Amino acid sequence: MTARTRRVPASVPADAGSEYEVVIGSNLLAEAAERLQPFMGTGPVFVVSDAIVHALYGEALVTGLGEAGNECVNLVMEPGEGSKRRAVVGDMQDMAIAAGADRDSRVIALGGGVPGDLAGYLAATLLRGIPWVQVPTSLLAMVDSSVGGKTGVDTAAGKNLIGAFWQPQVVLADVGTLDTLPDAELAAGLAEVIKYGVTLEEQLFSDLEDGLLESCLARVPEALALVVERCVSIKAAVVAEDAREANRRQVLNYGHTVAHGVEVAASYTLRHGEAVAIGMVAAARLSEERLGAAPDLAERIASLCARAGLPVDLPPGLSVDAVVDGTLHDKKSRDGQLRCVLVQEFGAVSPHEGNWSHPVTVQELARVLGHQTSTTGR
Ligand code: GLY
Repeated sequence: MTARTRRVPASVPADAGSEYEVVIGSNLLAEAAERLQPFMGTGPVFVVSDAIVHALYGEALVTGLGEAGNECVNLVMEPGEGSKRRAVVGDMQDMAIAAGADRDSRVIALGGGVPGDLAGYLAATLLRGIPWVQVPTSLLAMVDSSVGGKTGVDTAAGKNLIGAFWQPQVVLADVGTLDTLPDAELAAGLAEVIKYGVTLEEQLFSDLEDGLLESCLARVPEALALVVERCVSIKAAVVAEDAREANRRQVLNYGHTVAHGVEVAASYTLRHGEAVAIGMVAAARLSEERLGAAPDLAERIASLCARAGLPVDLPPGLSVDAVVDGTLHDKKSRDGQLRCVLVQEFGAVSPHEGNWSHPVTVQELARVLGHQTSTTGR
């Protein structure tokens, strides 16, 4: 079974000339070398991937590009968030320079969110910025991280604290690659899909509740392509309005203040999407307490996340205090004050004094997280 090819324009007026297409379909990877030719230059092409994705798809892509006349250099990292470090990107920069990187070089991100963020940062920093393209192979990367130009690395102090906004030239999202994605990674991607439904499109949330979620879990290509198209359309509209997250783009961080705290506290042993699921439920509880949001908000989000196989409580051994500590370096903080995106109802993020995030005290955060501890987690 295949899905028809869809095209979603992502327009970023803040960066002159940054207008690109997200192409979504099945079997796109088989045609990737041909589809990417308009975006290639005459210099070396650096294909950034992790060892798992490289073994699955790297050789075919590099062979195709080679046949089309592109000289390719593989830059392969260990899989996992642990690779999103300055040392790893530093090694890649050195290897790219040694291999003859010039302004006609290109970077290709092949894989999930980690190779994507790293490849984008490599492209943004090499020779003060060279063009790059994204070939996402995880659901999370297709619906979120491959679109919008956020690139960067983590530091010991927190997630994504070093980086740059650097938009790709094109995104090729082949939902056929999701066939090889482990179930837990697919579920992690669905957390970001659920996020779009909670914050920006109630109909998407209802459709997921009405069975679209299970069609995605069953990897029905048409359902996956439809979900990717809907999420990319939603995200592209937000990014077009506020590419550098000065304001409106903050809505895409729903659930992410707590998620980043959970990731740091758990030393990145949870997947980002798993931490987002926990964070979305916490943010819904805060929304209920603070804004009088619908009393079933947190319950419906928790129930949909659970159907996807996502955790909604802090894992055993992870204390509320550790998570709250982990949030303290979150980029959304201002003047040392934590901030969370809150929703008035499904599809309606609540503004606060001209912003899309609300100041939250550590005590408030600790209180709502207290509802999400497992018995051994205190
Ligand atoms: N992942 C949130 C954003 O791209 O803004």
